[in-house]
Amino acid sequence: MSLATGHPLIAIPGPSPSPDRVLRAMHRTSPDIYDGAILAVIQNVMNGLRRVAGTSGHVAPYIGNGHAGWEAVTANLFERGDHVLVLQSGHFGRSWTDIMSRMGVAVEAMDFGLAPADPERLAQRLARPDAKDIKAVCICHIDTASSAQADIPAIRAAMGDHPALLVVDAIASLGCAPIKMDDWAIDVLIAASQKGLMCPPGACFAWFSDRVAQRGPTGLTTPYWDWHPRARAEASWQFWGGTPPVQLVYGLDEALKMLLEDEGLEAAWARHRALAQATWAAFDAWGAGNPAIRLLVRDPDRRASSVTAAALPGAEKLRGWLSQRLGVTLGIGLGAADPANALRVAHMGYCNAPMLLGTLSAMQAGMIALNIDHGKGGVDAAAQVIAETA
Ligand SMILES: Cc1ncc(COP(=O)(O)O)c(C=O)c1O
Repeated sequence: MSLATGHPLIAIPGPSPSPDRVLRAMHRTSPDIYDGAILAVIQNVMNGLRRVAGTSGHVAPYIGNGHAGWEAVTANLFERGDHVLVLQSGHFGRSWTDIMSRMGVAVEAMDFGLAPADPERLAQRLARPDAKDIKAVCICHIDTASSAQADIPAIRAAMGDHPALLVVDAIASLGCAPIKMDDWAIDVLIAASQKGLMCPPGACFAWFSDRVAQRGPTGLTTPYWDWHPRARAEASWQFWGGTPPVQLVYGLDEALKMLLEDEGLEAAWARHRALAQATWAAFDAWGAGNPAIRLLVRDPDRRASSVTAAALPGAEKLRGWLSQRLGVTLGIGLGAADPANALRVAHMGYCNAPMLLGTLSAMQAGMIALNIDHGKGGVDAAAQVIAETA
């Protein structure tokens, strides 16, 4: 029997649920894009995007997803054959490496498995004589597959006075965990609309510092991807390299209002952390009865605020049962050693305690139904964290 009729719970790490307010803001016909209110709305979105990233620098919007963001940044920063270091903590660091390599960049990967990047290892690598020509250090703040969250200030500190640029993928962290582009001396930041920004997929953004803005196009820069006209746009279409995605712009404007004005960025970061801690508490209790249930990232300080990846025997079956019987969708075990026995729980964007507790309770019901061995009290442990933090 299915008990799924009701509001579905989508707990995949992007696209994340969109608030009704955002959907309503988008539900309109296209306006005049040459004149009128949309011009101020676009300007407001650009200002909000700078605030959410903690920068007074430059931001270029693109119609595209996170992959488009990676390509945009590569096309603006590098020449064919440039030596670039990517710190990999899972599937997304590897995919980013692949995109840059296919664009002709000489990418050197530092593989940390599913663990967060080790600043000490980076410092040692950059101290070697053959590191002088490294043009950039690229890192995912949160690798959504492993749920490892890098310590970006420590990474920056490990770079010392090496002149390489620090390029950070904040696709799974913007709006969910602290990101302070200027304070942390990040040169380039990449994010997209569909995770912490609570909007449908379709827009990605590249922020860049003044130091980077002084650089001209490279041999890889084609007109569409060139970020200079987008960041210095004089007409609304210039921001987006053509017709603006107007409905998404209205959605972003509403979402940024919710994040920056109604809830407040720091409160949003704290909410994500509390939901993450409640999730870990549930897994710890389940794992106490079955050591095969465990979080992929050991160190709580380096676990992501927006998503939790775990090994769980029978995960694939559990995911299927939850979606068919209860209307709850969990993330797949992307890039895990044994994907059929791994899953991810998102607590990202528009997600509150009852949504998370609902997801965790449904998971516990699924483990009972499918005879997946687990310790008792997972939901109680999560509720305890919520009770203590709310
Ligand atoms: C950290 C990170 N980088 C890049 C991407 C790629 O983004 P997209 O799937 O929107 O192309 C994702 C997608 O989940 C991601 O989590």
